[in-house]
Amino acid sequence: MSLLPPGFPDDVFGAFGVLKGRDVLSVDDLKVLALIEVSGEYLYQAMARVVPDEACKALLKRNGQEERGHAHRMLKAIALKGGDFTLPPDEEIPFVRNTPQEMPTNAEFLAMLAGAEDDGDLVYQSWADAEPDPEVAKLLRQNGREEARHGERVNEVRRLLGMAV
Ligand SMILES: [Fe+2]
Ligand SMILES: [Fe+2]
Repeated sequence: MSLLPPGFPDDVFGAFGVLKGRDVLSVDDLKVLALIEVSGEYLYQAMARVVPDEACKALLKRNGQEERGHAHRMLKAIALKGGDFTLPPDEEIPFVRNTPQEMPTNAEFLAMLAGAEDDGDLVYQSWADAEPDPEVAKLLRQNGREEARHGERVNEVRRLLGMAV
């Protein structure tokens, strides 16, 4: 049985696409978002594993740690909305299972990722704008601001690897 509520695909981009279509996030939506954020940690670890440069590794790992923090912020948001959710073991999360152990760090992928992080900021800010609970809105805004920083770190990685930014 899937861990995900009905209507959510098992792939991270598809599931995030469903959430992007939401105005206000429900408790179920926030659960899916928390699981997506956990898989973000695995994505960045998979990139840090293959990149040879130590400074790049550090930047990517830092992003990964913050993605885990984003998941925990969403658990707080769920509690504020009266829900109750604890993260399942990572290996049971479909988005984690679908993340390869090693991810490419080529120019095309890094450019796409920097764009996705910036887009993540915008999406978080629009959820925050629509969110009736000010404490939940604050948590959403914090995640959004950090996504923008992730985009900056990815751009730093691109520069360190000699890619045009
Ligand atoms: Fe995140
Ligand atoms: Fe991020």
